[in-house]
Amino acid sequence: MANILCIGAGYVGGPTMAVIAQKCPEHRVVVVDVDGAKIAAWQSDRLPIYEPGLKEVVLSCRDKNLFFSREVERHIAEADIIFVSVNTPTKTFGQGAGKAADLQYWEKTARQILQNSPTPKIVVEKSTLPVRTAEAMERILHSNDRGLQFDVVSNPEFLAEGTTIFNMENPDRVLIGARDTPSGRKAMQAIVDLYAHWVPRERIVTTNLWSSELSKLVANAFLAQRISSINSISALCEKTEADIQEIAHAIGLDSRIGPRFLNASVGFGGSCFKKDILNLVYLCEHYGLSEVARYWDQVVRMNEYQQARFHSRILSSMFNTVAGKRIALFGASFKANTSDTRESPALNVCRALVEERAEVVLTDPYALDNARVDLGEDARRVIFEPDPYAAAANAHAIAILTEWPLFADLDYEAIYRSMAKPAFIFDGRNILNHRGLFSIGFNVQAIGKPPLIHPSR
Ligand code: NAD
Ligand code: UGA
Repeated sequence: MANILCIGAGYVGGPTMAVIAQKCPEHRVVVVDVDGAKIAAWQSDRLPIYEPGLKEVVLSCRDKNLFFSREVERHIAEADIIFVSVNTPTKTFGQGAGKAADLQYWEKTARQILQNSPTPKIVVEKSTLPVRTAEAMERILHSNDRGLQFDVVSNPEFLAEGTTIFNMENPDRVLIGARDTPSGRKAMQAIVDLYAHWVPRERIVTTNLWSSELSKLVANAFLAQRISSINSISALCEKTEADIQEIAHAIGLDSRIGPRFLNASVGFGGSCFKKDILNLVYLCEHYGLSEVARYWDQVVRMNEYQQARFHSRILSSMFNTVAGKRIALFGASFKANTSDTRESPALNVCRALVEERAEVVLTDPYALDNARVDLGEDARRVIFEPDPYAAAANAHAIAILTEWPLFADLDYEAIYRSMAKPAFIFDGRNILNHRGLFSIGFNVQAIGKPPLIHPSR
């Protein structure tokens, strides 16, 4: 039996530890956080995040071999293996502001581990970090005069929100990097053994520390690059009457390209793609690789362009003014099946329309509470309405911003009847039946598609 601790009970720490606890019943898993409200929520029936299947996993092992606690120091002392899954946001101040990773939470954790460890420990980097962070971690941990040995292992997380539990239970791969020393290899083996409880051994990839750290940033950069690539072509489609979904299908059939991650959209969001690419850009600049930095930076610029293009299109289609017009925004989360609104394109479009003085109504099945917080001051100028029918009533336009399946299944004839005319639909996720909507009477604009406009309605 090992005592496993995770520092950070967020979107990664909570669910990953719940799955480890369920799959490894002989181990004791504790998840700690400085945020008392979050810990209380993990201990309650109302978990702090919405994620399909999460509650079942948590309930299967909570208070058996899975525990949530605020007592960070006590649990550090008792742990054999410590996963560190604290937030590593983009730095907002000083050198590297707007690009580099803010490692203050990370470093604080390293010092806490050092101060509270009476025995040697394996420390696992679960957070996404700049390459060579483990070196800094090792230096802090080994600055003790008690002769304590710490082994730092990199085990980046590749789960995607909305499919977290599925991804954890069926990972494409688990990546583990460690030092090629006797104790480094032993520490790596301990982490391999954990995952081997349910992950086929050939899917557990072991590398050196730096490859593991850098692979995480590169994986996110490649995924985001695909979205920016297809989104860039969507702009060309809108000029040429080519259809982006037909193109994605045609190119995706090439087995070298493959069909996934080719959905053109209002842009990618989420807490990680932008931050991790900016971090990669910063690292390249740091190492004097300005051409490489510029190459990756363009992925983020294209994403900003796509969002700006979307709200400009709303404005220009609606006779260049939306002031005083009710506009229903369908979706607040950055993707379907999550309540997470961090870096959500929906909120960027919302802010832009508020700025244009539209009467913005935001609807979402799970993300309205987070949206209210993330919108800050702008929230006072937004109506939050859980019912999409009520949100659309008397609206001049609907914009689909998150691909929640329920938005595709609404009664659009009834919605059309309840709206101001001419009625517009802007499909930022290409989930609706555009021809069907057009025949109901809507003017339809979708990403990367020719517009369907009634000249007289
Ligand atoms: P999060 O903000 O949801 O959770 C981080 C938690 O760490 C917070 O609850 C915070 O209170 C806690 N924390 C910070 N400092 C602490 C300390 N000293 N002691 C105890 N708790 C502390 O973040 P997240 O989305 O879970 O992401 C965590 C890391 O995982 C990031 O590096 C992120 O890039 C990476 N990651 C995230 C995802 C994702 O889907 N969200 C996926 C893969 C990797
Ligand atoms: C992403 C990666 O997929 C995970 O592997 C990674 O672990 C995680 O980031 C992380 O490091 O945080 P996530 O952001 O949760 O996961 O969700 P994705 O499914 O990757 O979607 C990201 C954004 O891209 C969403 O806004 C989504 O709507 C958008 N997207 C995705 C598209 O616009 N088109 C697509 O074809 C796919």
